[in-house]
Amino acid sequence: MYALVKIAPSILSADFGRLAEEIKGISNEADMVHIDVMDGSFVPNITLGQPVTRCIRQATDLPFDVHLMIFNPEKHIDSFADAGADIITVHAEASIHLHRTLQQIRQRGIKAGVAINPATPVCAVENVLHMVDMVLVMTVNPGFGGQSMIVEALSKVEAITRLVRKKGLDLDIEVDGGITDETIGAAVRAGANVFVAGSYVFGADCPGAAVRTLRTTALAAAKSMSSTQRTI
Ligand code: DX5
Ligand code: ZN
Repeated sequence: MYALVKIAPSILSADFGRLAEEIKGISNEADMVHIDVMDGSFVPNITLGQPVTRCIRQATDLPFDVHLMIFNPEKHIDSFADAGADIITVHAEASIHLHRTLQQIRQRGIKAGVAINPATPVCAVENVLHMVDMVLVMTVNPGFGGQSMIVEALSKVEAITRLVRKKGLDLDIEVDGGITDETIGAAVRAGANVFVAGSYVFGADCPGAAVRTLRTTALAAAKSMSSTQRTI
């Protein structure tokens, strides 16, 4: 597997009053825009939904990586696809008929992702790996930006990396939560190639420069690994 490093700034930490401007500020540096949708039920917080997603669609050509932290995500797949999502990721813990939900996403002609919380074991997604484009391993408990990475969750990234290789699959492995220039190297070494960063990027004086630093640091970490270990 050889995949490029992708940096996905999470707009959760952006200024919601200037969202379009904030997104334009990272558009030349980032690979995707990560959109955190929370329902106040699956996670404690409530953020944004389809109308905001549709509105910011005009601000950039970057793919929209929509992370649904909501129960019954199947009810909202079509409307997020209509609003401009390019990837929709649902939580294994939040969808009772996960297989069907993932099929539903792909039937819309967009990419499907599956996410697991820090306490959820890898076996929760093992049987759907062949039908996703991305696995998202949460490295914080979802709900808020600005938390510290739960480093133990990276062992699940390692396990998924091994499984993906064993099954001969080609998919992205995304990590989300507590990604900074100090933690991204460990995530690279575990096998991740897509890095969500909210507070590190939008808390910086220059968000575009923060994205560049993350990319440079990730590439340096990948370079320091042997070719057999490397996934990016
Ligand atoms: C957490 C969200 C993350 C969050 C990450 O529930 O899924 O995408 O924005 O924020 P940082 O990078 O600040 O940990
Ligand atoms: Zn997220």
